Amino acid sequence: MTVQIKGRPEAIAIQWIPKYTFVERLGHWLHTATFIPLAVTGMALYFPFLQPLAQGEAGLFLRMVHRIAAVIFGLLPIVYYVLQPRRFIMHTREFLPRKEDIGWLKAAPAYYLLGKHEAMPPQGRFNAGEKMNGLVMIVTWVAFGLTGIPMWFGKGVIPPELFRWLVIFHDLAMIVAVGMFLVHLYLAVAHPLMWAGLVSMRFGVISAEYAAEHHAKWYYGPQRAMEIWEAKKQEAAQH
Ligand code: HEM
Repeated sequence: MTVQIKGRPEAIAIQWIPKYTFVERLGHWLHTATFIPLAVTGMALYFPFLQPLAQGEAGLFLRMVHRIAAVIFGLLPIVYYVLQPRRFIMHTREFLPRKEDIGWLKAAPAYYLLGKHEAMPPQGRFNAGEKMNGLVMIVTWVAFGLTGIPMWFGKGVIPPELFRWLVIFHDLAMIVAVGMFLVHLYLAVAHPLMWAGLVSMRFGVISAEYAAEHHAKWYYGPQRAMEIWEAKKQEAAQH
């Protein structure tokens, strides 16, 4: 594909690499569209200063929205697994932490805050931060289900002490998931280095140039990516 940029006479050729399927993109946006109302209605039930909102008709409405969104939110990963089991397993595996992710953690401040590219070791299809986001979403999805379903159907049946623990774990899952979601939102829409993530989640593709720069292990393969990185580090040290 070629694009014409204002002020430049020649067209620039961009090579696009597929990253997400249509089902994955639709799933991602439906997940967002259900997570936000779940978080908003959940927080209205959680924070004492929002208690007036959780009373009477308004309270019933909040609880109804929470339950409807929860059904879709809960079903999404199951539908994904049924439609594209190999992709589901591939993604779940890719999110698992590895020893090499420590390199990302160490380099992240220099890379994200100071734009020092040579500090960041080559990353795979997902960098360690994206993997962390994926893993937190999976773990909290399980936690929301394991606590939310008995909270929904077990009131008056489950012993009150156990019910209290379910609510506490549901709240903890909310704090972790909302915290991660806010970081994810900032990086996706506001951070200058991460613009390509939003393009790939809209159109399913990523430019080869961006993949080579930010996901070198995926683009070149692990060995070549390390060679290129070592060369870049030496070059930066000489200047
Ligand atoms: C499988 C998904 C989920 C299910 C089945 C579920 C279910 C429930 C139920 C039944 C309640 C009790 C509402 C009531 O008072 O009648 C509740 C409360 C709540 N939910 Fe969820 N929920 C889910 C996902 C989420 C998510 C994604 C969030 C936030 C990101 C969230 C945050 C909360 C919070 C903060 C409360 C208030 C708990 C309290 O009273 O301290 N929930 N949820």
